[in-house]
Amino acid sequence: MRLHSIPFFVLLFSIAFCYYSEYDYGGGGYGGGDYDSPYAHLSGEGGSPNCAPECNCPANYPSAMYCDNLKLKTIPPVPKGIQYLYLQNNLIESIDDDAFKNVTDLKWLILDRNQLTNAKIKKNAFSPLKELQKLYISYNNLTELVGPLPKTMDDLRATNNKISKITPNILEGLENLTVVHLQHNALKEDSISGAFKGLKSLVYLDLSYNEMSKLPKGIPPSVSMLYFDNNKISNVPDEYFQGFKALQYLRLSHNKLADSGVPGNAFNVSTLLELDLSFNSLGSIPAVNEGLENYYLQVNNIQKFSVSSFCKAIGPLDYSKIRHLRLDGNNITRADLPQEMHNCLRVANDIEL
Ligand SMILES: *[C@@H]1O[C@H](CO)[C@@H](O)[C@H](O)[C@H]1NC(C)=O
Ligand SMILES: *[C@@H]1O[C@H](CO)[C@@H](O)[C@H](O)[C@H]1NC(C)=O
Ligand SMILES: *[C@@H]1O[C@H](CO)[C@@H](O)[C@H](O)[C@H]1NC(C)=O
Ligand SMILES: *[C@@H]1O[C@H](CO)[C@@H](O)[C@H](O)[C@H]1NC(C)=O
Ligand SMILES: *[C@@H]1O[C@H](CO)[C@@H](O)[C@H](O)[C@H]1NC(C)=O
Repeated sequence: MRLHSIPFFVLLFSIAFCYYSEYDYGGGGYGGGDYDSPYAHLSGEGGSPNCAPECNCPANYPSAMYCDNLKLKTIPPVPKGIQYLYLQNNLIESIDDDAFKNVTDLKWLILDRNQLTNAKIKKNAFSPLKELQKLYISYNNLTELVGPLPKTMDDLRATNNKISKITPNILEGLENLTVVHLQHNALKEDSISGAFKGLKSLVYLDLSYNEMSKLPKGIPPSVSMLYFDNNKISNVPDEYFQGFKALQYLRLSHNKLADSGVPGNAFNVSTLLELDLSFNSLGSIPAVNEGLENYYLQVNNIQKFSVSSFCKAIGPLDYSKIRHLRLDGNNITRADLPQEMHNCLRVANDIEL
């Protein structure tokens, strides 16, 4: 059963990945996902006469300057009026204090795939940027999160660095920060504790592929998408997830969860729609709320299908809303499924064994 399920699993997972992944490097430049120029409100008055010669300032998007894929070692001069600055895929190692002094109203700064280290980013490099909303600084050589950043920030992405430290308070007061991507770094739970405190608009937090052995403290209760997959988490503190009031998507796959580290109602959270506990060492199915729709438990050590994990009571209105359940890569066969299951999992159209 285990071997059989692998190709399908790979397929399914890549679909899931595409679905979640908002990130698209496709082509850099003008096209492709998040790098699209927000030109809707811009009028075409001719390109900036002061465009850095190596860069491209298109006439119809006069507040954007594209300097991607140019092997640049330093940040070129940025003329006044630029609000969207694309510097991804270069060899930039340093940022000077006056790099952005012309563009205090810069809104987007894209620095992905460069060679930046914290030591060569000057202390006040980002301080002229009073209106910055998006900073993308993934695939660099950072060991600490950069900052302080302005209160206008809404989207911060610093994946695939070697970040092991977030200075406490560096994100303080970023009341509009909604999205934070920190996956593929070297964060431990202690380096995070308190870092996100007070981010009252935070909705999306990705801490997958880090080095946490415990769930961190101080994650804002506003988060709806919370990703901890590929860490070394072995237990869930009592009531930990009950503290979140809007949590809908929770991923904890590829951790070290076993039954002993999962209190009875650890994952029984009424707002949850999707829960991924695949690739752990669970021996039984953790109880979940009736409202859960997608439940991923593949590749654990589950021996028994317990209806009570889904329904404590069964009635006309009491049934599990699970639509998709994955149990493949466990020790359960069709014959192990109890008949009463159908009264509880009434809308499940896909149970994989
Ligand atoms: C500021 O802009 C002017 C032209 O608009 C340019 O000559 C100068 O190099 C820029 N300075 C920086 C630090 O980008
Ligand atoms: C950044 O890290 C890469 C890979 O670890 C390394 O090859 C490169 O020399 C580093 N660059 C800097 C500027 O430290
Ligand atoms: C936060 O966003 C709101 C709504 O877009 C805006 O009115 C407010 O000025 C922003 N706050 C900061 C500090 O930028
Ligand atoms: C989940 O918790 C609710 C109370 O919040 C409880 O009524 C329900 O029986 C629990 N579900 C399971 C499957 O334990
Ligand atoms: C799988 O379950 C069967 C009983 O249903 C049991 O005999 C067997 O030892 C289990 N295998 C593993 C690897 O746990």
